[in-house]
Amino acid sequence: MGSKRYTVTAALPYANGPIHIGHLAGAYVPADIFSRYLRLCDHDVAFICGSDEHGAAIPIRAKKDGISPKEVIDKYHLLIKKSFSEFGISFDNYSRTSSKIHHQTAQEFFKDLNSKNIFLEKESEQLYDEAENQFLADRYVVGECPKCGFKEAYGDQCESCGSSLNPTELINPKSKLSGNKPVFKKTKHWFLPLNNFESFLKKWFLVENKDKWKTNVFGQVKSWINEGLKPRAITRDLDWGIPVPLDDADNKVLYVWFDAPIGYISATKEWALSKNKNWEPYWKDDKTQLIHFIGKDNIVFHCIIFPSILKATNEYILPENVPANEFLNLEGRKISTSKNWAIWLHEYLVDFPYMQDPLRYTLTSNAPENKDNDFTWKDFQAKNNNELVAIFGNFVNRVVVLTHKYYDGNSPEFSEINDSDKEILREIYSFPKIIGDLIENYKFRDAVNTVIDLARTGNKYLADEEPWKLIKTEKSERVKTIMNISLQICAILGLVCEPFMPSTSEKLKNILNIGTISWNDVSLENPINLKKINKAELIFRKIEDEEIERQLQKLNEGK
Ligand code: MF3
Ligand code: ZN
Repeated sequence: MGSKRYTVTAALPYANGPIHIGHLAGAYVPADIFSRYLRLCDHDVAFICGSDEHGAAIPIRAKKDGISPKEVIDKYHLLIKKSFSEFGISFDNYSRTSSKIHHQTAQEFFKDLNSKNIFLEKESEQLYDEAENQFLADRYVVGECPKCGFKEAYGDQCESCGSSLNPTELINPKSKLSGNKPVFKKTKHWFLPLNNFESFLKKWFLVENKDKWKTNVFGQVKSWINEGLKPRAITRDLDWGIPVPLDDADNKVLYVWFDAPIGYISATKEWALSKNKNWEPYWKDDKTQLIHFIGKDNIVFHCIIFPSILKATNEYILPENVPANEFLNLEGRKISTSKNWAIWLHEYLVDFPYMQDPLRYTLTSNAPENKDNDFTWKDFQAKNNNELVAIFGNFVNRVVVLTHKYYDGNSPEFSEINDSDKEILREIYSFPKIIGDLIENYKFRDAVNTVIDLARTGNKYLADEEPWKLIKTEKSERVKTIMNISLQICAILGLVCEPFMPSTSEKLKNILNIGTISWNDVSLENPINLKKINKAELIFRKIEDEEIERQLQKLNEGK
């Protein structure tokens, strides 16, 4: 397999609040696993993200906090960026949509499509708050979802059923600003006529992508396409956002969901500039694979609206896949920012310093890949103590300690090898390929559980062979073979755990005294040869009951 080019994106988080575990499980952890894996396979990867700093969500937050929208985005952009980096999310660029390069790129997109006569320009009646003298777009208005009856649907989307909406479709709409019932008022907007893209979407999505996409994603998109698509306004009467770049568009801005996905492109440009690279192949070469990692509430935007925009340019590639995850609940309840029912990443990093990997592990091994899933603190503790400490950590520790005890830390050379050794070698060298295939198919749960299976295999090998007994007998020569193979298992573990648990991999490789290994270079024919290894150090620590009780208490007190 030669080197390929990948553009991997993770949904741009709104810079109106910190990151919680639901965001991590939905998009950022899987995207990071995928990107790290691709790099280990020597592919050319641009892993792109940034803060989404427009849309009604920002001024609404500013009003609540009594600060300016600019202060809101600066505060949360920095906080989010820092916590992602501490958590080991390996973006090649974490940008922001308030940047100059993004404003220019989004405006150029708009102008280009406008000159190609893609848009509809029309007057329509929109919701207006008379007390506040303001149009009520998107999150400025809530009401009952016409599709599922959810009472708190936003003007542009129902977060309960995922439907994309127009504000005027809401039943009993209410202004978020004044609480008043809005009136209708005429205003002009630019629309993306999605109905014109129906045949393209049917062919590209329903035919070409069939069987390739996750069923939860495919099913949703299929039913939306088949229900019939309508024009969507892509401009807004707001004073926060990117100005519509036309002379007759005073005080209008681009709809946040028009500009934000273009943020992936601006962020790629910014990155390429800093690296002296050309950004265009990452978006325009049809040999590039474009993959969007998102949570399920973003499906319609990434599978219908943004692809239509990309298609309309006649230049850009379309996503190869959009492996959206379902939602993660917390202790049996929906994660809620307003009720503070969440685990915030920046707080976790303070409460559990140097313990990024156990959280990454738990969120992956319990990821909401095909259905909503639940995170519980008890489960987190159990996964850490019973899997990472008792299986993975224990195996590595035993091997390292015994190697020092018997051979002064030198990986022993061996002369004899029996059938069961041959069998175990065949087995352990099949792991990288098995795990890699699972990652390539977005089966991150199965993949990480297979990593633990490798450690289990190692533990079983030691338990079956009992080197600690043989060393005291005339068969002590055989211990060399056993320890050498066990060290190879440790090294393979160091490789295959890297996408999931990068700090653990680094610690393990330090102990084993090895550098970066390429995923595809490791095989039965090309086994890993260790030399002198370093002393054992703790790679996982036990989590005590008190720590878990403290977290549960904190959650229930809503602090
Ligand atoms: N900010 C959006 C959210 O949090 C996601 C934007 S993704 C992008 O739901 F494609 F628009 F960038
Ligand atoms: Zn709904």
